[in-house]
Amino acid sequence: MTSRYRVEYALKTHRRDQFIEWIKGLLAVPFVLYSQPQGVFEGKGMSSNAQACEEAHRRYSEIFHDVELMIDDHIAHQNDPANPFPSKLKLLVPPLGIFFTRLPLEAAFKYQDSKRHISSRRFVSPSFNDVRLILNSAQVMAVTTGGNLQLATFDGDVTLYDDGQSLEPTSPIIPRIIGTSPSPPSPIGIVTAAGYTTADKYYARLHGLLDAIATSPALTPSQRQSLIIMGGEANYLFEFAPSSPDLLAPVPLVRWLTPEMAAWDEGDIAELLDVAEAALRDCIATLRLPATLLRKDRAVGIVAEPPSARIPRESLEETVLVVQKMLEVSRVGRQRRVPFCAFNGGRDVFVDIGDKSWGVAVCQRWFGGGLPGGMIPGDRTLHVGDQFLSAGANDFRARSVGTTAWIASPTETVDLLDELAELMGTKTS
Ligand code: IMP
Ligand code: MG
Repeated sequence: MTSRYRVEYALKTHRRDQFIEWIKGLLAVPFVLYSQPQGVFEGKGMSSNAQACEEAHRRYSEIFHDVELMIDDHIAHQNDPANPFPSKLKLLVPPLGIFFTRLPLEAAFKYQDSKRHISSRRFVSPSFNDVRLILNSAQVMAVTTGGNLQLATFDGDVTLYDDGQSLEPTSPIIPRIIGTSPSPPSPIGIVTAAGYTTADKYYARLHGLLDAIATSPALTPSQRQSLIIMGGEANYLFEFAPSSPDLLAPVPLVRWLTPEMAAWDEGDIAELLDVAEAALRDCIATLRLPATLLRKDRAVGIVAEPPSARIPRESLEETVLVVQKMLEVSRVGRQRRVPFCAFNGGRDVFVDIGDKSWGVAVCQRWFGGGLPGGMIPGDRTLHVGDQFLSAGANDFRARSVGTTAWIASPTETVDLLDELAELMGTKTS
């Protein structure tokens, strides 16, 4: 039993997104019933093929329309504290969280179908990536409905640049970020797990963007201040500083730490990192990892040693799950006084104090000081990241404070920003 449970857990729970899998399952039925693989043997332009595509398109659209209505019902439940019963969608997909906006899924499907020709496929059913991109399109449509997006936050590795690389001046992301919206540009937060205490390290990773902001003739001095960097998930805040050699200046804690974060006890933090360090050391020994331990003041991790070594994906995942469990059962973990985030960075594993929900929330407060409630609301915030699996991923936590888009590469970030610009441009013209 136990091992069966472990296998199920290891194979499924943390490596699958159940909402996406559920939608994929719904789409598989019309795919099987209406796609006509034998059509490839017939001549080009056969009307039966065209009809099959149309039929698949109509059926897929209907499914997305129905899911859209189920999300509306879920949102109505979520907004009614007097209703103790779960929504139908929550019963069907138990891990489902909160929705900050409704999702125009039917329109998003039609948009992605025109780009990816999903309904024209006869051998490959609608995939995880198809559904993920449709959800992203629906989300960007929703955050720009009835006004503009007020805050965009971006993860670093894999979202803005390839894993372990830097944002170079030639990156196509840079002109799109600087022009993310018509004037005034929407505030941007880069919320990365990469945790450094000094500005030069962030300059090294982000110099292409920082130099472009410093020199772009299109930006006013106040627009240049619409970028902040939140490093170490939620531990180090930097603002744009044109006169500093690194174009960034650390922001003193008193200017940004929330009262809840100020209450995190240094003794608890040290204890939590000690437990994590012991668990990581144990994994290095047990799994014979080609890795070395890295302890920082707000994080502890393992990185490949020698740096050219590759830690197998399974070992990285095993390490995250072991550390997560050890922390959960530890004294400091059980008391839940200090949030933490254990994640698989693709080539390394880190445990950070805090997580991206805190990091994005700091950005919401920083830019939303003058608004009612003192912060930009979740339905006007979009966090773009690559790590959205429920365990061992760090962007996932941002889902509790704002809307999110799940990309798989910097190229997808470019596509998403183009979609966003198109939607915002349509709204303002
Ligand atoms: P992100 O994708 O921008 O959140 O960056 C995650 C990556 O940052 C990790 O995979 C690590 O390679 C790197 N990193 C560097 N320092 C830290 C740290 O203190 N905590 C977590 N990740 C770190
Ligand atoms: Mg990332």
